[in-house]
Amino acid sequence: MLIDEAYIEFVRTADDDAVVDALTLLREDPRVLVLRTFSKAYGLAGLRVGYALARPRIAKGLRAASTPFGVNALAQVAAVASLNSEAELFERVEELTAERERLVDALRAAGWDIPEAQGNFVWFPVGDRAGLLAAAFARAGILVRPFAGDGVRVTVGDREANDAVIAVARSFRTAQ
Ligand SMILES: Cc1ncc(COP(=O)(O)O)c(C=O)c1O
Repeated sequence: MLIDEAYIEFVRTADDDAVVDALTLLREDPRVLVLRTFSKAYGLAGLRVGYALARPRIAKGLRAASTPFGVNALAQVAAVASLNSEAELFERVEELTAERERLVDALRAAGWDIPEAQGNFVWFPVGDRAGLLAAAFARAGILVRPFAGDGVRVTVGDREANDAVIAVARSFRTAQ
C-alpha cells in the first residue's frame, strides 16, 4: 500500500482521528510505503527532492529500480536546511491554512460549492466550464490549473492574491 503524504503539513482538522496515521500503518504492515515531498510546504519543487519511508526490503527494491544520483547535492543540502528550520516553516503553513479557510469561506459565501480543502489549493468543481473559468482567472493575471471536463485547481496564495481569486470567482458566478 502506497500512502502519498505530499500535503500532510497542510492537514488541519478538528477530528484528528479522520487523518490517516501513515507511520502507525507502516509499523503495523511491512507492505506500506509512505512518500513525502519537499515540493509543497517546503517550497522546493524546482529541486525535485522527496523521500520514502519503508521497510528495508521495499527500500532496497526502490533503490534497485530508481535512476542513480536521482537527488542532486544542492537539493540534499536544501532539504536538510529546511528540516533544520521547521519552526519557521510551520509558521508559514499556519498562515497558509488560515488563508485557505478564509478563501473557502468567502467562495462559499459567494455561492460556490467548494469542497473541504486540506491541501494548499482549493477546488472549483465546474465540470465543462473548467476552461472558461481558467480563462477568466488568466485575464486577471492568475495562473490556475484546469482539468478539462472536471474542474479547476487554484493554489492558495497570499492575502492579496486570494482576494483577487475571490473577485474573479464572484464575477464569474454573476456572469453565468
Ligand atoms: C498528490 C501529489 N503527490 C505528489 C506530488 C508531486 O510531488 P513531487 O514534486 O515531489 O514530485 C504532487 C504534486 O503536484 C501531488 O499533488
